[in-house]
Amino acid sequence: MAWIKVCQVSDIDEYMPKAVDVAETKIGIFQLNNKYFAIENVCPHAYALLTEGFVEDGTVECPLHEAIFDIETGNLESGPGCRNLCTYPVKIEGESVLISLEKSE
Ligand code: FES
Repeated sequence: MAWIKVCQVSDIDEYMPKAVDVAETKIGIFQLNNKYFAIENVCPHAYALLTEGFVEDGTVECPLHEAIFDIETGNLESGPGCRNLCTYPVKIEGESVLISLEKSE
């Protein structure tokens, strides 16, 4: 699996996810309970960046029409999100956050 360094752990906190572009793919890096998750950052309903949404109880709410996605699984919980989000493997090496573009699902 090819790993790509995308940011530092200090760039992210629970309520401030990080938007990154990797090979023209927009990905959001989120932190929950000191674990890190990478999910597709563009809401499938219309074009909105989920890293600009609202993080609460392990979910992120789309800033445009309020679809709610589970951050860990990418699953659509409610609202007009159309489908689940792609998720990507994440690993931490020292202070660096690395992801792989191999989709977890
Ligand atoms: S753009 Fe996300 S719910 Fe509409």
